[in-house]
Amino acid sequence: MPYSCQQGFCGTCKVRTLSGDIDHRDNILTEPEREAGTMLTCVSRSAGGNLTLDL
Ligand code: FES
Repeated sequence: MPYSCQQGFCGTCKVRTLSGDIDHRDNILTEPEREAGTMLTCVSRSAGGNLTLDL
């Protein structure tokens, strides 16, 4: 994924996930974006188990 800030505030690394539970560690995604499975890959990670990214 392309990236820029690597700190979770620019949104460049935003990606949609297809499955899995996300441990969000950013401060910019809205609740609807999170509910839709969007994550920022530079700071967020799996909350447990596998994540499938829509690359
Ligand atoms: S690279 Fe900026 S939010 Fe991920």
